[in-house]
Amino acid sequence: MAELTTLEEKLAEVTGLAQAAQDAAEKVESLTDDEELQKRLEQMREEAEETERRCTELADHRDGKKTAILEKAGETKSEAAEMMRTYLGDDADDLDGFEWLTMAEAGEVGHWEVLAKLNEKAGEDELRELVEWVLPIQQRHFNDVREGSLKLAAEEDPDVSP
Ligand SMILES: [Fe+2]
Repeated sequence: MAELTTLEEKLAEVTGLAQAAQDAAEKVESLTDDEELQKRLEQMREEAEETERRCTELADHRDGKKTAILEKAGETKSEAAEMMRTYLGDDADDLDGFEWLTMAEAGEVGHWEVLAKLNEKAGEDELRELVEWVLPIQQRHFNDVREGSLKLAAEEDPDVSP
């Protein structure tokens, strides 16, 4: 297996997070019956899919590294999926779901910022274009799920047991 550079490892991680984000959006969509929130999750899922597609395309252009990058992405995806399973047990409700997404989307933003910082030195044009496209989208995802959490929290009765 080809050895990955730090930059390629981080590219693999954001790819895996984009894969995990699609499953997370689908899972949380199944927990809520709020149509507005469902619509937002649907858009997030589509954008995560497009993010994964663009990441894979970029991995494709790295000579002989694609397999190793996608394998590492798979590891990241599994780790994220396991964390989600642990956090969202059988009794999870939609507020738990949005709290999970708030952590996950903050993690995505943070990882993309790391990749952007690494590329300041590496100076790869294709990667810079991808980061410029994806960062505002990831920041919007984080804002949306954070607002979703607060919307659901506002509907909760703080004095009853859940
Ligand atoms: Fe996201």
